Amino acid sequence: MPSSKSSLIKLDRLTTPKIEKLFSDSMTLKQNFNKHQLSSGVYHSGYKGTAALLFFEPSTRTRFSFEAACSRAGYHPLILDGGVGTSLEKGETIEDTIYNIRAMRPMFFIVRCNDLVNLNEIDASISEPVLNAGWGRQGHPTQALLDTLTMFEKWNTLKGKNILFVGDIKHSRVVSSHLELAPILGYKIGFSAPPELLPSVKPQCEVFTKLDDGLNWADAVIALRVQKERHDSENIFLLEDYREAYGLNLKRIQALKQDGLIMHPGPINYGIELESEILSDPRSCILKQVENGVFLREAIIRGLFN
Ligand code: CP
Repeated sequence: MPSSKSSLIKLDRLTTPKIEKLFSDSMTLKQNFNKHQLSSGVYHSGYKGTAALLFFEPSTRTRFSFEAACSRAGYHPLILDGGVGTSLEKGETIEDTIYNIRAMRPMFFIVRCNDLVNLNEIDASISEPVLNAGWGRQGHPTQALLDTLTMFEKWNTLKGKNILFVGDIKHSRVVSSHLELAPILGYKIGFSAPPELLPSVKPQCEVFTKLDDGLNWADAVIALRVQKERHDSENIFLLEDYREAYGLNLKRIQALKQDGLIMHPGPINYGIELESEILSDPRSCILKQVENGVFLREAIIRGLFN
């Protein structure tokens, strides 16, 4: 049954005007926040209720970002962080955990979980909005939105831009969400990775065997973490070979346009997909992504009950 509540599980139902309004709201929140900070003013909203932040998988950026966004928007966050010390350790299921926390009447849910959980089913079974905070390989919608917000802040449009993903594309939920978002905002996606890290079914996009060719094509490059924990016996390439062919460093990144952007959703394996020296490149906006993520998530939360 289609729901009229404002859950965010996938991006494919969003429209360009809705996303541009979200970007505009996020930038207004950023300006207001900066203004209050400069004048040492207090920045808060009145108490509106509680929000359940249920992180069944590890997270730093997304969890803290949503936590900060909830607080700024007036919702007290109730946090489950990885499940240690909860009845998950006694065998209670994720679904039961959610239904029990629901009985405590949070206004909405923010959930990070693996592919074994059916987030669509959970969303359909409750009346409160559910925000996907990273669901297995299926998607990480707020990450793709904060990436594009950071690009929008610089270029004012995504239309006609070329975004190159370098690294572990096969295992990336960030890429899954960008593949939904690209046709809505009008940008093109390119991949550059060893064959082992490309998806077996390739979506419609450019594939660059040589990273330099991809960097020449790109307006922004998003390096992805090599997800060693997901490789097991599949991982037949050597990390040193990977670094040599696909690792971003100051020399290699010269091939990117002067007004290009260098991004990474984090966490970063320094010395594999990216050298720490990259952070000193003025085109690097990796921490700006993190900063913008809070405003983007705050704008989403503030829009939930409008
Ligand atoms: N980008 C991102 O999802 O980072 P975390 O896993 O630390 O939340």
